[in-house]
Amino acid sequence: MAISSGVLLSRSRLFSVLSLALLSSQAAHAQLYSPLDPIFYFCSRWFSSSIVKDGSLYINGGIETFYHSGVTSDTILGINTYLIQVSMETSWDWKTNITITDESKSTANPKTGTYPPSLVRGTMFHGPADLKEVYAFGGTTFMGNTSFLGYVAPDASTYPLWTYAYDSSDFRWDQNDIGQPWKPNHGAAAEAIDQGLGFYLNGQIDKGTDSSTKNFGNDSTLPLDGMLVIDLANSTSNNISTAAISGNEPRVGGGLQYIADVGKKGILVALGGQLSPQNVSASTSTNGRLLSLDTVDVFDISSYIDDPDTNGTWYNQTTTGEIPEPRIDFCVVAASAPDNSSHHIYLYGGHNTISGVPYDDIHVLSLPAFRWTKINFGASPRWGHDCHVVGNRQLLTVGGNTTNEQCDWEIKGVAILDMSTITWGSVYDAFAPEYLVPTPITKWLGGSPSGGATITAPAGGYNSTGLAQLMGVKRIWPTSAPPPSPSAPPPSHHKKTSVGVIVGPVIGGVAALALLGGLLLWLRHRRHKKAMTPHELEAAEKSEMHEEPKKMPYELPDDNRIPTEMAEQHGLAEAPRETTTYAVELPATTISRDAKPGVPMLRTPSNEDPPQLELLR
Ligand SMILES: *[C@@H]1O[C@H](CO)[C@@H](O)[C@H](O)[C@H]1NC(C)=O
Ligand SMILES: *[C@@H]1O[C@H](CO)[C@@H](O)[C@H](O)[C@H]1NC(C)=O
Ligand SMILES: *[C@@H]1O[C@H](CO)[C@@H](O)[C@H](O)[C@H]1NC(C)=O
Ligand SMILES: *[C@@H]1O[C@H](CO)[C@@H](O)[C@H](O)[C@H]1NC(C)=O
Ligand SMILES: *[C@@H]1O[C@H](CO)[C@@H](O)[C@H](O)[C@H]1NC(C)=O
Ligand SMILES: *[C@@H]1O[C@H](CO)[C@@H](O)[C@H](O)[C@H]1NC(C)=O
Ligand SMILES: *[C@@H]1O[C@H](CO)[C@@H](O)[C@H](O)[C@H]1NC(C)=O
Ligand SMILES: *[C@@H]1O[C@H](CO)[C@@H](O)[C@H](O)[C@H]1NC(C)=O
Ligand SMILES: *[C@@H]1O[C@H](CO)[C@@H](O)[C@H](O)[C@H]1NC(C)=O
Ligand SMILES: *[C@@H]1O[C@H](CO)[C@@H](O)[C@H](O)[C@H]1NC(C)=O
Ligand SMILES: *[C@@H]1O[C@H](CO)[C@@H](O)[C@H](O)[C@H]1NC(C)=O
Repeated sequence: MAISSGVLLSRSRLFSVLSLALLSSQAAHAQLYSPLDPIFYFCSRWFSSSIVKDGSLYINGGIETFYHSGVTSDTILGINTYLIQVSMETSWDWKTNITITDESKSTANPKTGTYPPSLVRGTMFHGPADLKEVYAFGGTTFMGNTSFLGYVAPDASTYPLWTYAYDSSDFRWDQNDIGQPWKPNHGAAAEAIDQGLGFYLNGQIDKGTDSSTKNFGNDSTLPLDGMLVIDLANSTSNNISTAAISGNEPRVGGGLQYIADVGKKGILVALGGQLSPQNVSASTSTNGRLLSLDTVDVFDISSYIDDPDTNGTWYNQTTTGEIPEPRIDFCVVAASAPDNSSHHIYLYGGHNTISGVPYDDIHVLSLPAFRWTKINFGASPRWGHDCHVVGNRQLLTVGGNTTNEQCDWEIKGVAILDMSTITWGSVYDAFAPEYLVPTPITKWLGGSPSGGATITAPAGGYNSTGLAQLMGVKRIWPTSAPPPSPSAPPPSHHKKTSVGVIVGPVIGGVAALALLGGLLLWLRHRRHKKAMTPHELEAAEKSEMHEEPKKMPYELPDDNRIPTEMAEQHGLAEAPRETTTYAVELPATTISRDAKPGVPMLRTPSNEDPPQLELLR
């Protein structure tokens, strides 16, 4: 990443002082490191998922390495089991005044007894703008450290789509059945927020997927065909065939970008990724073929939405210019010239899993020219990160594995790129000016930074007349959206198959079992309460009513103050944050594949195989 030398300097200075400060408090530290707070002990985090909505960045799950005994070379490999929130309402500098909070997920949904999972290689969706919810979809359990305190075995096979109601004062997580057999991971996700649609292209299942895949080899994966089109408003979905692209072989680790303004309902552009043989074992995990970025696939959304009995239409197109080397686990975002005469897909970072080369460059694919421009390269490669467009024209990166570093030098896990001036920095400007096409692109594209592109087709022509026609269709936007009537009833799209809501139609034995389970849960809860002092009880009841996210503002005006603050915080004799017990209360109910949704069942930690499978057959 091209960063100012100032940042690099402060990073090494920071590391040395951190090590000192942590070492000096090692004794006290030993008592406090459970559970590991993902912000306080942050070393690096990758394969997490994130989304920006209503002035907040949400970060869910991911593999994390934590500082542990005070030396940076001694870290713990584990999972981020919290939902992290970064305020995006006001400007910040991650080096001085960023506000990060996190909320533990160690409380079960009181309705269902299910815990929100903390997975890796899934995605988050924004969802319809009028819903005060963000969505977590897909993912797999990280199996790299099953003794980690926050580890929950993948036999608790919950539904793949979760919602988090950030405005609710009740328990905020809920899960939804989208009616698909698998919870995919490592696919490519995109979202048409204006249409309430999420897309998940291909992906895979593996050992961490659920109880039925537990016998997979440690590094075995089974790639999944198809693209899920998820209606986020009512949690329904379709799995449409992707046999028409990449030679009918599913891909993992690629990118998928929505361009709203092209075609009747927008287009999706699928870029890169790795085609895997059906069963990749540990020794051959570098077998898969990387897709070249000299060709991209374009999906016409209206071809499917307007005719849902089809698989929709894909086109491929050769690209020109400074084509990026093939890779996976990069991130993509898009920005359009103010007049929509050109659309620019920014591809940042990633790695080549076959050669082992990680990347720190940014390439922009400009449409409809389908030409790449390399606009930036740096010396701090990153893969397994996420990115978003924030504040009109800034690219926000979240997490990522920095390969060459012991820990991420972006100690808050975020960084900002101005997409127009192409400068990296630590400052997020909530009120940045509108996006302008950067000079290295306008140089060949023609027109000005605000549009008027003169190159409006690929240099070698379109590969199909169908794509030429599609790219020529400009989306018709309503001139002014009718304001929602205040007296109108709330949107009726809450048809969510929420586990626990449909306990009704259940057959005898299971119902009894479910009731028994509920009773035992209640009894256990009661017992738990009885053992407390009245004061504790009151406190517990209060915290049950209000699970407020814990605030942990990092206000470090300059590097010099870090050692003092860190030393003080690490010198505490107890956990710096509300302690949460992970190990004691394992999920008491769960939903299994092939099980009837909405049927809670009794499980104990030793009960590996869900009992109701037999009962229901
Ligand atoms: C945080 O720092 C940024 C950059 O220096 C500044 O623009 C912003 O006003 C500061 N925010 C607050 C709340 O102090
Ligand atoms: C796995 O987690 C345990 C418990 O937190 C920790 O002691 C151990 O060091 C971790 N293993 C690795 C490889 O980090
Ligand atoms: C989608 O359909 C394909 C082909 O039928 C299937 O192999 C795949 O498992 C399905 N995807 C999911 C997520 O269930
Ligand atoms: C992959 O191969 C391994 C070793 O041959 C085998 O144990 C495993 O079951 C296979 N996985 C799948 C999904 O076929
Ligand atoms: C899979 O990983 C676990 C934990 O790291 C290890 O104990 C086990 O031996 C591995 N199995 C194989 C077949 O490599
Ligand atoms: C879900 O909503 C979409 C429109 O947003 C509609 O086409 C579809 O029929 C709905 N499905 C159900 C089951 O309500
Ligand atoms: C969609 O694709 C699948 C798999 O290739 C195929 O079986 C099916 O007939 C296709 N549907 C339509 C309407 O073409
Ligand atoms: C592009 O599409 C054509 C026509 O569908 C197909 O024959 C060709 O194999 C595709 N090429 C690539 C690289 O996907
Ligand atoms: C450009 O496209 C965006 C959607 O990406 C749309 O909101 C906007 O109205 C369009 N502007 C013009 C000038 O067409
Ligand atoms: C990157 O990932 C590897 C495993 O692929 C892990 O061993 C390493 O600690 C990670 N490094 C950082 C800095 O994230
Ligand atoms: C697209 O057309 C170009 C120029 O005619 C040709 O070289 C290329 O192979 C075609 N690409 C695909 C994917 O069909």
